[in-house]
Amino acid sequence: MTAKIVTLSGDGIGPEIMAAGLKVLEAVAPKINFDYELDAELFGGAAIDATGNPLPDKTLEAAKNADAILHAAIGDPKFDGAEIRPEQGLLRIRKELGLFANVRPLKIYEALKHLSPIKNVENVDFVTIRELTGGVYFGEHTLEADKAQDINDYSRAEIERVARFAFETAQKRPRKKVTSVDKQNVLATSKLWRKVVDEVAKDYPDVTLEHQLVDSCAMLLITNPQKFDVIVTENLFGDILTDEASSLAGTLGCSASSSHGTGTAFYEPIHGSAPDIAGQSIANPVSMILSVAMMLRESFDNEAGAAMIEAAVEKTLADGIFTKDLGGDATTQVMTKAILTRL
Ligand code: NAD
Ligand code: IPM
Ligand code: MN
Repeated sequence: MTAKIVTLSGDGIGPEIMAAGLKVLEAVAPKINFDYELDAELFGGAAIDATGNPLPDKTLEAAKNADAILHAAIGDPKFDGAEIRPEQGLLRIRKELGLFANVRPLKIYEALKHLSPIKNVENVDFVTIRELTGGVYFGEHTLEADKAQDINDYSRAEIERVARFAFETAQKRPRKKVTSVDKQNVLATSKLWRKVVDEVAKDYPDVTLEHQLVDSCAMLLITNPQKFDVIVTENLFGDILTDEASSLAGTLGCSASSSHGTGTAFYEPIHGSAPDIAGQSIANPVSMILSVAMMLRESFDNEAGAAMIEAAVEKTLADGIFTKDLGGDATTQVMTKAILTRL
């Protein structure tokens, strides 16, 4: 079978890191007998420039019919204040594909421990399951001259399916623990969230469940990150907490993610288009390269390919080859080449 992979390079550093990810895929494929074809489609700001739409119909059709999607990043400050923005394309494709569970693992590399802002990062190993197609992102937004509002809503079904995803994730991990993060002391959506998560937990008696309010969770990520195994939380809290968590690893530039639901799975770094460093060949490609690894493991059941890529990344970092965000001077291309050599 030939795997059909749609690639969405997007904006800013997107094309630079996508090129790196695809080089690694090309190099690993013959080693694992992975047969694939690529279909590059317009997305984000690049698609607005070309078609006026951040998610053109052709891109959406291709994405729906693919076996997996690789996305780099979208976003460009030139659209600030514009009515049509690249981010709308990203939200819409997540919704259209029903990608309700965004998996954001945190890995702290031995070679990057010195970059962590906290002193003790031993035994930090958790994954955040961020709800991705609901909440305030998708409620009605109204903006008037002197008043604005964003509606946050969640249905029981939306909470239940992402909670099940989190418990099933925890069942596959040694510690089998879920921390559900909410703001139930204030928000109605969070009251329902906590109730539904408690109900779902009864079906997973082998998993330990604890609840944490989001503000103190943000504090514990810094003071006691060892306490977390699987975090499950709503869309906005998950967005914020995972950027915070990535800083424990010393950089945003090494954090990959996968999104799952009813349609084609989607693989992307957690960071954005980094306009401040775009076009300079200094972006860290590791987030994209690890997204390729997640794709091989989760969409194509190819543990060997994923493990090979992850080992090559780890070895490259252990050998002290660092991009600028890691305190080094390796360009995107040098870093990618170093990873390819170690494959
Ligand atoms: P950002 O994640 O793009 O960048 C934050 C900081 O991290 C910047 O200093 C950037 O240079 C650095 N950084 C990020 N990725 C890096 C990498 N691979 N290597 C080295 N440094 C890296 O966040 P932002 O600046 O707040 O947002 C910029 C744009 O990206 C906005 O338009 C935003 O909407 C968009 N965005 C898109 C996605 C996505 O496509 N999934 C995610 C987040 C933000
Ligand atoms: C992310 C991004 C997006 C989000 C933006 C670009 C809409 O920050 O993928 O984390 O908030 O989901
Ligand atoms: Mn984000």
